[in-house]
Amino acid sequence: MLSVRRSRAPLGAEIAGIDLSGEVDARTFRDIVELFHQHEVVCFPDQKLTPEQHVAFSTRFGEIWMHHRTDCCRPGYPEIFVVSNIVENGRPIGSRDAGVFWHSDFCYVKEPARASLLYAREVPQKDGGPLGDTLFASMTTAYEALPDATKRRLEGLKAVNSYSRGYYRDRKSGPRRELTEEQKSITPDVEHPVARTHPYTGKKCLFVNEGYTTRIVGMSETESEALLAELFAHVARPEFVYRHRWRVGDLVMWDNCSTQHRAVMDYALPQRRHMERTTLHGTAPF
Ligand code: SIN
Repeated sequence: MLSVRRSRAPLGAEIAGIDLSGEVDARTFRDIVELFHQHEVVCFPDQKLTPEQHVAFSTRFGEIWMHHRTDCCRPGYPEIFVVSNIVENGRPIGSRDAGVFWHSDFCYVKEPARASLLYAREVPQKDGGPLGDTLFASMTTAYEALPDATKRRLEGLKAVNSYSRGYYRDRKSGPRRELTEEQKSITPDVEHPVARTHPYTGKKCLFVNEGYTTRIVGMSETESEALLAELFAHVARPEFVYRHRWRVGDLVMWDNCSTQHRAVMDYALPQRRHMERTTLHGTAPF
């Protein structure tokens, strides 16, 4: 029987009482989907998942995205994107600094990801507590909280989302590997509504983020920068944010339409962090 504990934030809930390594019956699965849409971010604690089980549970929700950063995928598992600071045999086992700015996964493609499922294999520790938290912000709550005049202003507006802009963003975490021509060619810039409608709940969600959104279509650079700066500051307001403190065995699933997230880089080797993510295909925003 599922036991649900809400966070104090407007999003985020823990769903205990289920072992995802086994078969999840249809009725329980329907409950999970409903809870997921309701809470936008859900955590299944204490899971012991093989990569196959992680992939199998993810596939229940739909098709998994094969990440174009194949250099960061778990060997033999193109469905699993590794986020880790671990280096083995002189080679990083995954993406070291994925998502250190507010973003939503795959917002830079025509049909952005529906959801992501991140599984914690190793969590850095200090003084008995975890490091490397992930922050999630509710884009339904952020949209709702906008003044009516701003909501009206956003109607019909589109924004450009750019993968290379996010990838090459100036960061303190050291040099980055160059994107290959193939990686660049499969991620051309795309335009999406600034406020999109959730395909399942019908709620309005703000859909611009500091990681990948570069400009508002049809506005001067100055006007666009001013509006984006206002929206980026708005979406990160603490009252919209849930902070997840990781434990080994957590499987956290988030909605990429109704939330944005940001990883906190407050750890370094020998503190090891090893997370594995599957990402689900989504639909074109409207
Ligand atoms: C991500 O953006 O998918 C990674 C988040 C994290 O590592 O906390």
